[in-house]
Amino acid sequence: MVLHLRWLNSFQASYNPLFHIMNILLVGSGGREHTLAWKLKQSAQCEQLYIAPGNAGTQQCGTNLNISITDFEALSAACLEHNISMLIVGPEEPLVKGITDYFRENAATSHIYIIGPSAEAAQLEGSKAFAKAFMNKYHVPTAAYKEFTEENFEEGLAYIRSHPLPIVLKADGLAAGKGVLICNSQLEALAEFELMIMRSKFGAAGKKVVIEEFLTGIEMSVFVLTDGSEYVLLPEAKDYKRIGKGDTGLNTGGMGAVSPLPFFDEALKEKVISRIIEPTIQGLREEKMDYKGFVFVGLMVDNGEPMVIEYNCRMGDPETEVVIPRIKNDLVELLVAAANQKLSTIRIATDEQTAVAVVAVSGGYPGQHETGFPIYGLDASLPGSLLFHAGTKQAGDQVVTNGGRVLVATSFGDNVQEAAEQSEYLLQQVDYEDIVFRPDIGYEFRGLINGKA
Ligand code: AMP
Ligand code: GLY
Repeated sequence: MVLHLRWLNSFQASYNPLFHIMNILLVGSGGREHTLAWKLKQSAQCEQLYIAPGNAGTQQCGTNLNISITDFEALSAACLEHNISMLIVGPEEPLVKGITDYFRENAATSHIYIIGPSAEAAQLEGSKAFAKAFMNKYHVPTAAYKEFTEENFEEGLAYIRSHPLPIVLKADGLAAGKGVLICNSQLEALAEFELMIMRSKFGAAGKKVVIEEFLTGIEMSVFVLTDGSEYVLLPEAKDYKRIGKGDTGLNTGGMGAVSPLPFFDEALKEKVISRIIEPTIQGLREEKMDYKGFVFVGLMVDNGEPMVIEYNCRMGDPETEVVIPRIKNDLVELLVAAANQKLSTIRIATDEQTAVAVVAVSGGYPGQHETGFPIYGLDASLPGSLLFHAGTKQAGDQVVTNGGRVLVATSFGDNVQEAAEQSEYLLQQVDYEDIVFRPDIGYEFRGLINGKA
């Protein structure tokens, strides 16, 4: 069998220039990383898979390494020790902090394929002001805005006083998903603006503030894999950020996701490609940005007209849990193509079924919550469903909760209703203290069969 596989692999290698068998290190520890690990592991090109630091789910797909996502020195030492040929960076923090540059500039690691942009390009996520200036320069439709610091603070106050409501304030830098404030009165906006700039409410991240107009419509996300010059469009998705049923309560990292979206028709897709994706990639090319990796574009669609809310320099979580399982291509082959600037040779094949992810969180999340509770029923399975781990860890012979978002059930179905119900059913087979999940992910599309009511 081994001999046979070797023969097959060497045959493929001589036939397919993108075929390389390699050891891979994936950085991160959430549901996104378990999903990526699950998919990478299916590739004949993935020899050994390592995940740093990973969770109790990723250790079923490879070997977890107990290294922090921002300890570049230890990550690069691990790459050398384990003969890693590809480094895939899941979350934004190491990218914004320059992991890609660190690896490229060091002779010992410069040969490693890196999936994730340079620090300069990662500013598309790491600095709202940078992203807005980029969008304006390349005529990507986005909300009108102005940026302020301590220097033009007074001007900012005047801007807020004359701005229609609601007013959107954004801390320029990364603020753990908390840096966006939607203010319904001038008074509130003035107070928040002062807190951000004068009292460092979000630390250094908020010493610069972008003030922008409020967009209405329906939010969705599109994803591309780019090599900085070419790109492939991946399946679109919508995530459900609020903790409560019917999109109520506090914002979370994401309580569920749906893909595909019934309203993402050919006309909208064409507008998104021609007005948003193409100019964005053209911008990367013209600015000569080192960008080999995923671009996640958050959109607001109003009456069929898309506007960009934000860029992220990575995949979304829990969007990955529906997007990646719908992709039929070999993921390592896709990433090798991106790393070698060969994406024009790739055609994405997508599963036409609907995928719905439902996230199980700890009681109290997104506020204070306890962790360390044993999780029961992890061997639950259903045909057409997957159970990904997010905040979990192995403690002795038990898997315990280890974060706000704990597990993600993804199911396939003929429509949103079917897939969502199946994911809920799967989570009902699992238990830990104070398990919470939304029973209505995809609610606005339920009852739609093939996009029709
Ligand atoms: P972000 O941190 O940029 O992902 O923004 C968080 C959320 O704030 C987005 O997902 C939107 O729901 C909302 N948001 C951000 N900018 C705007 C805007 N200009 N108009 C309306 N909602 C917005
Ligand atoms: N689900 C939103 C994000 O990953 O930022």
